[in-house]
Amino acid sequence: MRRAIARARVRKKTPWHHVVVIVAALVASARAGDDDEVQHSESSAILDDHARALEQLIAQPTHTAPLVKDAFVKLANQARHAPTLRELREKALTVGSGTVEQALAEDDIEGADERDRWIAAREALYALSALGKVGLVDEDAFVGETASGEDDYGAFERLTETGSETWYQSALQRAALMGDDWARTALGFRLWKGFDGVEKDEERALSMLRDVATTGLGRGPTTYELEAPSGAEWLRDRDRDAGWYSESIAAKAADQVAMEIDAAARGDDGAHAQLGYRALVGGRGVEQNERAAFEHFVEAARRRGGGLPEAHYNLGFMYMNGMGTEKNYTAAREEFLRAISKGQIAPAYNGLGVLAFNGLASEQNYTEAMLYFTAASKLEDPDGYFNLAQMYTAGHGVEANATYGLEIMEKASELGHWRAPYELGMVYALGEVVEKNVTKAARYFHIFIEERFNWAEHRNEAIEEVLLHQNPWGALVRYALVSSLGSESAANNVAWLLRKTDAYTSENKFELAARMLREIIYCYASPEARVDLAGLLSERKVRPDLTFDLKDHYDQLVPNASTYEIAATGHLSVAAFGEKPYAEALVNLGWAHLFGRGVAINASRSLELFAAGAAASETSYEATPCVFAIVMTKFWLFAAAASRSLSFGSLGLPAEHFSALPTPKLNFSTVRGFMAVRILRLIEVIERYVLFGLSLALAGVLAYRAMLPSR
Ligand SMILES: *[C@@H]1O[C@H](CO)[C@@H](O)[C@H](O)[C@H]1NC(C)=O
Ligand SMILES: *[C@@H]1O[C@H](CO)[C@@H](O)[C@H](O)[C@H]1NC(C)=O
Ligand SMILES: *[C@@H]1O[C@H](CO)[C@@H](O)[C@H](O)[C@H]1NC(C)=O
Ligand SMILES: *[C@@H]1O[C@H](CO)[C@@H](O)[C@H](O)[C@H]1NC(C)=O
Ligand SMILES: *[C@@H]1O[C@H](CO)[C@@H](O)[C@H](O)[C@H]1NC(C)=O
Ligand SMILES: *[C@@H]1O[C@H](CO)[C@@H](O)[C@H](O)[C@H]1NC(C)=O
Ligand SMILES: *[C@@H]1O[C@H](CO)[C@@H](O)[C@H](O)[C@H]1NC(C)=O
Repeated sequence: MRRAIARARVRKKTPWHHVVVIVAALVASARAGDDDEVQHSESSAILDDHARALEQLIAQPTHTAPLVKDAFVKLANQARHAPTLRELREKALTVGSGTVEQALAEDDIEGADERDRWIAAREALYALSALGKVGLVDEDAFVGETASGEDDYGAFERLTETGSETWYQSALQRAALMGDDWARTALGFRLWKGFDGVEKDEERALSMLRDVATTGLGRGPTTYELEAPSGAEWLRDRDRDAGWYSESIAAKAADQVAMEIDAAARGDDGAHAQLGYRALVGGRGVEQNERAAFEHFVEAARRRGGGLPEAHYNLGFMYMNGMGTEKNYTAAREEFLRAISKGQIAPAYNGLGVLAFNGLASEQNYTEAMLYFTAASKLEDPDGYFNLAQMYTAGHGVEANATYGLEIMEKASELGHWRAPYELGMVYALGEVVEKNVTKAARYFHIFIEERFNWAEHRNEAIEEVLLHQNPWGALVRYALVSSLGSESAANNVAWLLRKTDAYTSENKFELAARMLREIIYCYASPEARVDLAGLLSERKVRPDLTFDLKDHYDQLVPNASTYEIAATGHLSVAAFGEKPYAEALVNLGWAHLFGRGVAINASRSLELFAAGAAASETSYEATPCVFAIVMTKFWLFAAAASRSLSFGSLGLPAEHFSALPTPKLNFSTVRGFMAVRILRLIEVIERYVLFGLSLALAGVLAYRAMLPSR
């Protein structure tokens, strides 16, 4: 997940123990959207039914389980309460702007039940559309009895009622018109990029995404934000690093909490602080309890030479917001000052700024607030930057300078301030400070929605589904629901699960994966997806796509290359020689040259490409396969040459390599990059050691045999 976001914006993370609680932005310090929360927490029988249908779908071990069909029928039946697309469109015409839901809410929807039915229907429509898009809804399976004997007559007909659109595309449009936030995000994303049967229309995309983002402003906890667990990495990364998953994560987490409780009982202030955080967030077997958190922080703050500065800061925050204690701004100010004097805690400066700005602990004083926000921003505090940007934009305590305000706001966004992408989206949508840029605005709103609606949580759940519960089908369903929103990592994981697991055993699963990968390539220009697609093509698992002339992309194709090989090589070379060379593509192209898969057999070219891969790698983790490829190829060529001279064949390498030896020698000055050169030098050294080691071992064996008593 991080990789997907990281491409859009580099986010710097403070370590989890450092400062968990972040003071809310000035403007949003009131807990907005409380009414909304209440409404969501009191779910009705109808909404429960809907949630249960989804849970049932996710809980099945495979897609062939009878209850999967049952769950689909339940969802389809819930969706039957939705108006048809034609009805909705007619309604939309009379309403003008805004969603039909707003109009209907005024006249048609009466009573809580009717409303819940409406919500369940649109959510069911979204779920079916997202799953249908991936190809997970088996349309034929809708005919006949379900496991629970529920009457499914016509459940699916209603979904397929429209004329031109594919059923899942029209289901998405219906859900969006009915005001479903996820559906509107998904549709906004399609309008932005122009795919999946939706024509590109960036203005409409922008207004739709902005609407959703605006509803997102008033949602969820605005007073404090917590570090997300770093869980949702890419499955395909784990695929490579097979050693990653050895023990149960859950068991480890429980052990960790037990250790902390033990340490806190022995008076460890750090452990108290940790337990305080856990009590604030809840989870991992610790109940959420603000009062308990407050007490833990009091403990952590009063020990050993004045206690932990972070604990003081957290106490200040809790006094300021009346969490676990009475509101007391004077006490908050004192604790913030202590946090600063003991440990230069950046958000404490921001807290003092908020107090001064609002005149809470003393007279209102914008000059003082400016000083504190500046101090906070100097310590790279995202809230400090955000608030400073607001001060410059509004001209509070400083001469107004919106251009400078925008610059600072971008910094706040880079550092991960939750609201900054929204503000930036507004700036680029309005075009008052800078030139209007619809694409940029849409991108910022999309980022904001992704973070605000917490897609990461759904992706984490999917990870758990596959790793802890060993239920790849459930993970596939979860990822499919999120991928439709425009999440690159979720889409990648859908493709991965289809390719690599038995999550879905249908015959066309590789074609479905390839369709997903092509979409990822189209929407995000992703080199990773190209490499994966090339893999499917060279294994001949999917039909080749020659949509653009992939031949033009690489001049080393052999004349008799198959269309599979042409397509695979084309994708690899686009990724390998793009703006930013992609190491994995270079390495795969290198292997193709070694074995002559569609390209000229040429070992020196292989070694050149492997070395280029090492040079393009940003981390040693990425460089490892390149280095391995170089060592292995050299060794293989050497061994095969020796083997051939003894007439034992060429050890699986094409004979062409040996028509004209000498063994290729690398020229270091042709290899770009400092790291690559070092790595290659290292290989030479390692080779020498390996030879030395082998000779030693041989000598040892000979000596040992000489010492054995002769029989
Ligand atoms: C607020 O805190 C200050 C300083 O800690 C204390 O003197 C004061 O009595 C507190 N006020 C209330 C109403 O508790
Ligand atoms: C506001 O704060 C500044 C800086 O701390 C200070 O110099 C100034 O006197 C304060 N103004 C008022 C009205 O208190
Ligand atoms: C506003 O800030 C920008 C960027 O720092 C600066 O170049 C410009 O001169 C400032 N404008 C005013 C009116 O101070
Ligand atoms: C909008 O921003 C994008 C970069 O995000 C840029 O490529 C494009 O040229 C900009 N469009 C305009 C009209 O400035
Ligand atoms: C292409 O030709 C070479 C020899 O010229 C042969 O070894 C190879 O198998 C051929 N490849 C295909 C796909 O026919
Ligand atoms: C093999 O590759 C090298 C390096 O790219 C190139 O210089 C050489 O001409 C190639 N050999 C053949 C026979 O194509
Ligand atoms: C290595 O390559 C550089 C530039 O490509 C060339 O100038 C140099 O002579 C080469 N060195 C050897 C030993 O071939």
